Amino acid sequence: MVAVAFLLLTAQDFAGARSCAVCHSEIATTQEQTHHAKALALGKDLRWAFGAGAQAITYVSQVDEDTYLEHGQSWYKKSGGLALTPGHQGPEGVTYKTFAPDANILRCFQCHSTGKPRINAARAIEPAEAGVRCEACHGAGADHAAAPARENIQNPRRLTATQVNDQCGQCHRMPPAKGVATNFENPWNVRHQPVYFSQSACFLKSEGKLSCLNCHNPHEDTKVAAEAQCLACHAKPKHQTVVSNKPCVSCHMPVVNPSPLLGFANHWIGVYRLTGPGANLLRPLKQGTGR
Ligand code: HEC
Ligand code: HEC
Ligand code: HEC
Ligand code: HEC
Ligand code: HEC
Ligand code: HEC
Ligand code: HEC
Repeated sequence: MVAVAFLLLTAQDFAGARSCAVCHSEIATTQEQTHHAKALALGKDLRWAFGAGAQAITYVSQVDEDTYLEHGQSWYKKSGGLALTPGHQGPEGVTYKTFAPDANILRCFQCHSTGKPRINAARAIEPAEAGVRCEACHGAGADHAAAPARENIQNPRRLTATQVNDQCGQCHRMPPAKGVATNFENPWNVRHQPVYFSQSACFLKSEGKLSCLNCHNPHEDTKVAAEAQCLACHAKPKHQTVVSNKPCVSCHMPVVNPSPLLGFANHWIGVYRLTGPGANLLRPLKQGTGR
């Protein structure tokens, strides 16, 4: 059960976002609007909706005491309708045994919810709290909520840039361990931002000054203000290429479409050949040293 270890690190109980909101109301108000908070919801028809709909929603339902079905049709924002779920061969869907050794269906719930999911008397999976809420990043906080102190709650602000990669990587996928090969030519892997970001010269050579948190507010979905970040370190980049006033990220973090309906910004910040022969949005021309 290595995959769930990160949820069990603290012996403290989980309190739930509602209890955090009593004292941290401003953060709670913005966080509850995020795609993180809405990453999982139970519909009236008892189907679980995975994904906030930023790009797609995949439905999952319990079939019987031992089986879950991942539906073959997902909803896509880009088309506004249903189409084949990524990885599926047909519309009939894919079934999973609830207690399979790989625990694949349980793992869906782990990354899309907070706290430890339970299996109830009807052998149905019940997330402790749907969506990615406070304690997914701050650790279990019941002791802190009862007697607030800095010592009894985790604050990722104290983490190094490498540790932030690892924390976000618990769900967004871990940067590759030394000696482990990643297939950077598989466009589906671009979804795994820490994996790509950890290869960037910007990350590797900026002495810990660049992490996910420079560009992303952990409590809001606001459109990333990446340009200002780029300019903070590259005040006057040297270009032979005509850059006009296109956004830096359009060339240096190009959007990759693993399917026509999904797109992800390549977090391996670098120089890409965007068009013509040899065009490749998956790997930069020059490559960082890796990790
Ligand atoms: C009863 C009020 C109260 C509740 C409930 C509460 N907090 Fe706090 N929290 C505080 C106070 C007060 C501080 C500042 C403590 C200090 O500076 O000594 C704080 C600080 C923090 C910090 C910053 C710690 C640091 O190292 O700087 C985080 C993160 C945090 N709370 C998260 C949470 C989470 C998550 C929950 C819900 C599980 C929660 N809080 C529930 C009152 C509360
Ligand atoms: C418990 C798992 C989990 C953790 C931990 C986590 N995320 Fe996420 N994150 C998700 C899921 C699931 C989504 C997809 C939400 C959706 O359905 O659109 C997501 C989506 C996002 C998005 C896209 C938001 C949008 O505008 O659509 C960003 C940015 C993001 N995460 C950044 C982070 C960062 C930075 C960290 C670390 C500080 C982090 N995440 C930690 C699970 C997690
Ligand atoms: C290791 C953690 C993890 C597991 C396991 C996981 N997800 Fe996710 N899921 C994420 C993260 C992180 C995102 C956000 C990815 C992004 O947008 O970059 C996400 C996004 C999604 C989305 C939104 C579309 C997209 O690709 O952004 C859907 C739908 C989804 N997951 C469904 C599922 C289903 C169904 C399962 C189980 C079969 C599952 N997930 C298992 C972490 C996970
Ligand atoms: C995706 C991960 C994530 C989630 C979910 C999350 N936080 Fe945070 N939180 C962080 C990070 C990262 C920081 C440090 C921010 C920084 O350094 O700018 C932080 C900082 C804080 C702080 C300290 C603020 C300060 O100014 O020092 C408090 C309090 C807090 N979070 C409360 C909450 C509460 C309450 C929720 C739920 C409503 C929540 N967080 C959800 C990642 C998260
Ligand atoms: C915290 C500082 C920092 C930030 C923020 C930053 N970079 Fe960098 N970047 C660096 C450093 C350091 C290097 C390595 C320079 C060297 O090798 O001399 C680098 C290298 C690069 C390179 C050359 C890549 C290569 O593989 O040699 C490009 C292109 C680049 N950055 C673009 C960007 C863009 C675009 C942004 C914004 C999305 C950005 N950087 C944000 C620090 C940063
Ligand atoms: C230099 C700035 C920068 C850094 C650092 C950064 N991101 Fe992003 N991220 C972006 C940009 C730009 C987008 C494109 C969406 C937008 O413009 O809002 C994005 C989009 C995302 C998305 C939405 C799906 C996608 O891939 O387009 C997720 C999830 C995400 N980032 C997670 C992370 C995580 C996790 C980290 C740390 C490992 C991280 N980001 C580091 C700039 C950054
Ligand atoms: C139209 C695409 C495009 C845009 C927009 C763009 N760049 Fe570049 N950039 C390139 C190319 C291509 C190179 C490789 C050198 C060249 O041909 O000029 C490069 C090179 C770089 C380098 C590396 C220079 C070196 O010394 O190796 C940095 C740093 C950089 N750009 C930063 C930025 C920043 C910051 C922005 C936004 C203000 C930006 N770029 C906007 C295409 C672009």
